[in-house]
Amino acid sequence: MFITLEGPEGSGKTSHLQPLAEWLRGEGHRVFTTREPGGTPIGEQIRAVLHNLQNTEMHPRTETLLYQAARAQFVEQVVKPRLMAGEIVISDRYADSTLAYQGYGHQQDLEQVRALIHYATGGLIPDLTILLDLDVEVGLQRSARRRAQGGEWNRLDAFDLAFHQRVRAGYLEMAKREPQRWKVIDAAQEWEKVQENLRVVLAECLSRR
Ligand code: TMP
Repeated sequence: MFITLEGPEGSGKTSHLQPLAEWLRGEGHRVFTTREPGGTPIGEQIRAVLHNLQNTEMHPRTETLLYQAARAQFVEQVVKPRLMAGEIVISDRYADSTLAYQGYGHQQDLEQVRALIHYATGGLIPDLTILLDLDVEVGLQRSARRRAQGGEWNRLDAFDLAFHQRVRAGYLEMAKREPQRWKVIDAAQEWEKVQENLRVVLAECLSRR
């Protein structure tokens, strides 16, 4: 089973990933956690180029293609082998991030972006995608606090508010278009409540398998 966590900046995906995996392991599942962009040595090198604040001249098409290059490696080297071994793979971001950020955010042609994603992933679609939805300004404030405490601040965090608002709207539109794959959780709730909601969604999805 392939599960992806998606959401705008500051939605808290990363902080929920390990506790969620630990809980699943306690329930007897074999779980592998990973993240995008990255997840492989080649992918981490591409991540560094993508997120480098000095790369201000990067064109949206370059950005889109670099994410797909990292993703192709990620799918072949990490996701497929783990799925074949019967593990549950949970990824902090995946292809829907490209649709949200490069597609809706940068306003690139969505059909062309979907075709590139299909090429990069060989058509691998998650079984379940959870959107941690959050007001954009609240999310950016959370990211700014994280930055003040020495956390990562990347080239995409630095885009303007309108960009991030298009990203969030894009996520909500995708969730609405494909309700059988997407589940939306309100990330403005207390951390414990969000974690509880995540477990409920996962338990329900696993019970259907
Ligand atoms: P994160 O580690 O905070 O999730 O940062 C990843 C950043 O990369 C985030 O700003 C979203 C962005 N991103 C894209 O723009 N497109 C993609 O396909 C992926 C995977 C991430």
